[in-house]
Amino acid sequence: MKILTVLGARPQFIKAAPLSRVLREDHQELIVHTGQHYDANMSDIFFEELNIPKPDYLLNVGSGSHGKQTGEMLAKIEEIVLDEKPDYLLVYGDTNSTLAGSLVASKLHVPVIHIEAGLRSFNKKMPEEINRIMTDHVSEFLFCPTDTAVQNLKNENITHNVFNIGDVMYDAVLYNKELAAEKSSILSENGLSEKGYHLITIHRAENTDDVGNMKNILEAFSKIEDVKVWPIHPRTKHKLEGYGLSLSDVPNLKVIEPVGYLDMLTLEANAKKIITDSGGVQKEAYFMKVPCVTVREQTEWVETLEEDANILVGTDVKQLLDAVSKEVHPSYKEVFGDGKAAEKIVSLIDNR
Ligand code: UD1
Ligand code: UDP
Repeated sequence: MKILTVLGARPQFIKAAPLSRVLREDHQELIVHTGQHYDANMSDIFFEELNIPKPDYLLNVGSGSHGKQTGEMLAKIEEIVLDEKPDYLLVYGDTNSTLAGSLVASKLHVPVIHIEAGLRSFNKKMPEEINRIMTDHVSEFLFCPTDTAVQNLKNENITHNVFNIGDVMYDAVLYNKELAAEKSSILSENGLSEKGYHLITIHRAENTDDVGNMKNILEAFSKIEDVKVWPIHPRTKHKLEGYGLSLSDVPNLKVIEPVGYLDMLTLEANAKKIITDSGGVQKEAYFMKVPCVTVREQTEWVETLEEDANILVGTDVKQLLDAVSKEVHPSYKEVFGDGKAAEKIVSLIDNR
């Protein structure tokens, strides 16, 4: 069986690591990297650290408007699919690379495998929501990480080949947690102590593309006296520069370049709290049992909201500050599977 995997953004490299490892035991996988993320610390570092097989095709699409970026991907992926004639095309998550891959394959009658299917924020202003809905509706196999995701698909009348197999990101965390603790020196490099800092990540368009939201977020951060470390996403860095907003006035804030996965796991595991608008980081906070504050109005990962393990604050300064200072003692549950999502996916495809 020949599977063509299309990926292009940081979280997709991390999701691909566990699945590619299992898939390649018995199947031929070809990887198409769209080039949506291209900086070494947003792309190459993950392939190296996580031993992800080198992409067979590098499309070098790069950044651009949604139409330009997705359109260029469509044209290039189409040529590859026509040439390679894969049995399946596999995509992860909800980025423009996901949409491009699934759209090309479905038009060429190549069945689509969607990993992380069924997630919904019910906010169609998010580009990711459009990408997910479109991809789910043209997919042949829909691998969901949670029961909520299965139910979301049912609500849209998608029930064929829908499976809750747990979250591949949980597979990745379990596989790499000890390695991270052994190899990463990110804490000492940055003078951080265990549970002595908050970890920040912000990159979502709904925050970064709105100067008012970014001003609120920075105002809240400047009122948090604790040490904070922020590996900054290039999108956010560029946007802040464009708005003329500086981070140098925020006290006790350490802004660093995006870090590799092992360093990120270490930063997460040892944080007092995690403040984020990332999908993946909300889940990792839950896996690591670190309280999370999510700078968004909605989350797709509703399970994490139980017992304030994750608190949604939008961009309201007071809500953000209250959530960061709130003492929480949630009981974490196994709502994201058992860390064997990759094996389950491959076995379900094999027994199709
Ligand atoms: C994309 C996904 C988002 C995902 C995120 C993961 C879409 C619509 N969005 O958002 O769902 O959560 O990836 O990180 O697919 N840039 C660089 N270097 C890079 C990559 C990006 O400088 O290697 C900068 C460029 O200024 C670019 C901006 O970041 O314009 C945004 O990049 P893009 O890939 O379009 O979207 P993300 O915000 O990264
Ligand atoms: N991540 C990383 N280095 C960083 C920031 C994030 O390795 O500097 C990892 C993080 O651990 C998670 C994934 O990237 O596995 C999340 O990606 P991101 O926040 O970019 O996107 P999202 O999950 O919101 O789509």
